[in-house]
Amino acid sequence: MSGFSFTLNATDNRARAGVISTPRGEIRTPAFMPVGTAATVKAMLPESVRETGADILLGNTYHLMLRPGAERIARLGGLHKFMNWDRPILTDSGGFQVMSLADLRKLTEDGVTFASHVDGSRHFLSPETSMEIQRLLGSDIVMAFDECPALPATEERQAEAMRLSMRWAQRSRDAFGDRPGHALFGIMQGGVLRHLREESAEALRAIGFDGYAIGGLAVGEGQEAMFDVLDYAPEMLPPDKPRYLMGVGKPDDIVGAVQRGIDMMDCVLPSRSGRTGQAWTRRGQVNIKNARHADDPRPLDEDCTCPACRGYSRAYLHHVFRAGEMISGMLLTWHNLHYYQQIMDGMRSAIGRGALDEWVAGFHEMRRGGDI
Ligand code: GUN
Ligand code: ZN
Repeated sequence: MSGFSFTLNATDNRARAGVISTPRGEIRTPAFMPVGTAATVKAMLPESVRETGADILLGNTYHLMLRPGAERIARLGGLHKFMNWDRPILTDSGGFQVMSLADLRKLTEDGVTFASHVDGSRHFLSPETSMEIQRLLGSDIVMAFDECPALPATEERQAEAMRLSMRWAQRSRDAFGDRPGHALFGIMQGGVLRHLREESAEALRAIGFDGYAIGGLAVGEGQEAMFDVLDYAPEMLPPDKPRYLMGVGKPDDIVGAVQRGIDMMDCVLPSRSGRTGQAWTRRGQVNIKNARHADDPRPLDEDCTCPACRGYSRAYLHHVFRAGEMISGMLLTWHNLHYYQQIMDGMRSAIGRGALDEWVAGFHEMRRGGDI
C-alpha cells in the first residue's frame, strides 16, 4: 500500500486510538506533533526528537517560503532531506501565521498579500499558492488555506471568516488534486459559536478531505470555552478520518482534547518553554530559574528516563540556565518533548485498555502535589 490511511484500533467513550499510515511511516494516534517551524525543532537534533517518541513533525509554509524559500528546498531534495527527518511532516498552510506575524496585510477573496517579518519583502498567499508551496516542500499532510480571525471578533466577522475559509477549502481541494500518499486536511472554523461550527463542518464534509482539523481555538478563549466547543465539534466530523486540534496546548489541554475525540495536536509550548527555563513534569510545572533549585541535587523528575533527568541535577539545570548556556535549552526541550510523548503513550495504551478515565484521574492526582 502506497497510500494514506487511518485505522482506528480502540475507542474509550469519545477517545480514540489508532494509526495513520503514510509512505514515510506510521503515526500512532492520539499523536503530539513537535513544531519544527523553520526546518528545525529548536535546540534538538531530529534523531533526538525521534527518541522522545515523535512520529511526525509540523513545519510552516509561512516561515519556509520566506526563508530559505520553497523552490530552494525543492531544488535541495525537499524538506525531509533538507532537515534530515525522513518520517512524516505536516505543514500548516500559512494564513494563520500571516495574521499573527506579517506586516501590511491585505486580505481579499483571492488571498492575502503581506510584508515579510524577516526583510519586509512583499508576498502573496492564496489557496493555490499555499498548495504549491506545500507540494514543493514535500509535505505529507498538507493543510487547507484558511483564515482564523483574531479574537475578540463579532459574530458577523467570525461568520465571514469561516465562510471565506470554506470557499478557500474548496479551492485548496481543487488545487491539491490527486496526490497518492499525500493527504489534504480541511480546517473547521467558526470560533465558539455552535451554529457556525456546524455550518463549517457541513461545508468541509461536502468537499471531502483525508482528515479534518479544528482551527480557531486556543486563541485566547480559555480552556473552559475550548472544551465546550470540543464537546460537540469533533462529532460533527467524519468518524473514520483523523481529527486534528491545531495549536494545543498545555498538558491538561491535550488530555482533555483526547478525551473529547481528538487524534492529533501540535504546540510550540514544550519546545518554546524549554528555552525559557520552564519544565513540564508529571507533578506540574518547574521554573528552573527559581533560586530554590540552586542547591537541589535531584533531577527534574525522579522517574523520567530522558537524558536531562538521567544525567543532570536541578542545580545544574538552574546553573546553565542562569549562565545562558545553550545546553539549558537543549536539555529542557528534550525533557519537555519526552514528557509530552509519555502523556500520549500513556493515553494510547489506556484507551486500548478501555481505562482512559482512570489514567486521567491519575494524571490529575499527580499534579495536585503543589510546589515541586
Ligand atoms: N494553528 C492554530 N490555529 C490555527 C488555525 O485556525 N488555522 C491554521 N491554519 N493554523 C492554526
Ligand atoms: Zn526528563
